[in-house]
Amino acid sequence: MSKIYTVAILGVGARGGNAYGKLINKFTDKYNIVALCDQREDRLEYYGELFGVGEKNRFTSEDEFFKEKRADLLVIATPDTAHIGHTVKAFEAGYDVLVEKPLTDNEEECKRLLEAQKKYGCRALVCHVLRYAPAYTKLYEIVNSGKIGRLIDINWTEPVGYWHQAHSYVRGNWRNTTDSAPMILAKCCHDLDLIQWYAKSKCKTISSIGSLDFFKKENTPEGATERCQNCPHKDSCPYSAYRIYIERWHQFDCPTHEWPYNVVTAEPVSEEKIRAAIEAGPYGRCVFHCDNNVVDHQTVQMLFENGITATLHMNAFTNHGGRRVAMHGTYGELYMDEKTITLDVFGEPTEIIKIDALLEADYGHGGGDLKLVEALYEMMEGNAGLETSLEASVESHLMGIKAEESRLSEGKLLLVHN
Ligand SMILES: NC(=O)c1ccc[n+]([C@@H]2O[C@H](COP(=O)([O-])OP(=O)(O)OC[C@H]3O[C@@H](n4cnc5c(N)ncnc54)[C@H](O)[C@@H]3O)[C@@H](O)[C@H]2O)c1
Repeated sequence: MSKIYTVAILGVGARGGNAYGKLINKFTDKYNIVALCDQREDRLEYYGELFGVGEKNRFTSEDEFFKEKRADLLVIATPDTAHIGHTVKAFEAGYDVLVEKPLTDNEEECKRLLEAQKKYGCRALVCHVLRYAPAYTKLYEIVNSGKIGRLIDINWTEPVGYWHQAHSYVRGNWRNTTDSAPMILAKCCHDLDLIQWYAKSKCKTISSIGSLDFFKKENTPEGATERCQNCPHKDSCPYSAYRIYIERWHQFDCPTHEWPYNVVTAEPVSEEKIRAAIEAGPYGRCVFHCDNNVVDHQTVQMLFENGITATLHMNAFTNHGGRRVAMHGTYGELYMDEKTITLDVFGEPTEIIKIDALLEADYGHGGGDLKLVEALYEMMEGNAGLETSLEASVESHLMGIKAEESRLSEGKLLLVHN
């Protein structure tokens, strides 16, 4: 019989409650959720009931929560700016940790995290879920098989999608760098992490350009109002809250427990609740009248110590999301989109690998969330081979931190490691 580890969750929102909490709660032979902490009582109550955590083990105050060590493992899924403080506190209390990305947007804090981990001897896994997603693992396997020869160049595109940009990075939690990490870390730390993983080398130099170009007051269409509800463009503007949250919700058969609708209003989602949220809450604001400052497009150029070059293009202005990747090696090339991996070994017939066949469709991030929770158990068991250790994650965080520094210096070329 396998050992059952006790788990506490700090931040039971979309990730801590809905993603990891629900997954961890499935594996009753491996994990037992015993304590929850969140500033929101409604979430504590909902997930407390769902996970069978009694009232005396639900905390609205993190100070109260950290008074005692309450479990073997702590899942940290609070907002971006809280991760560093919560992770250091968790190490001090002796927890092994699963922590959401981004860890921090600050180089000194990266060092502080590694030092704290070393000092307290705790284990930590970072939620770079895509390293565990079968499609990206398959790509890694092909690159490492040598089929395309020696990897020379990576060309990576992150099409955010117009409505996702509006939802998360104009109206939502990641819109302003006073409360969240800059876009290159908040959205693209997965991309940088994967590029670094495939390059298998430390990044040597980096430069970046990009800006917030469109979602600003000066681009407001004529006659548009500050909130969608009274706006003359509410039925035609693609960024209208009514089109994104009501029209799309109907197109997807009115899901009651799905993102992004469960961010706009509490589960179970209903049309009445969405309409009320649009009328009163942040998701009903006009996209040209928000307090957002994060970029809507950004390009990063990288040179790795082993000579591999890479570019990353993040762009809000796409109809669909879904990363697109091209990798060029000395004996072949690889292309990946949402549906296929196309392998062209020079002089050989094209090979097409269907991504659908690789996906664990019922689980978030193409099965990455599930595999991460499985890897977490391996970490707790002390087994080696963790892909997203704190050390590995700090490497790609440094790339993001330097990319942002470069962008703010008009694309100045910077060394990643001084
Ligand atoms: N790995 C991924 O692919 C992925 C995907 C989405 C989000 N994220 C990251 O996960 C983190 C959480 O995102 P989310 O979408 O779940 O956000 P969320 O807002 O749904 O959940 C965060 C929760 O933390 C709670 N909270 C905030 N401060 C707290 C404190 N001091 N003490 C206790 N609770 C506190 C909030 O009340 C909220 O319920 C973010 O950092 C985000 O960037 C990662």
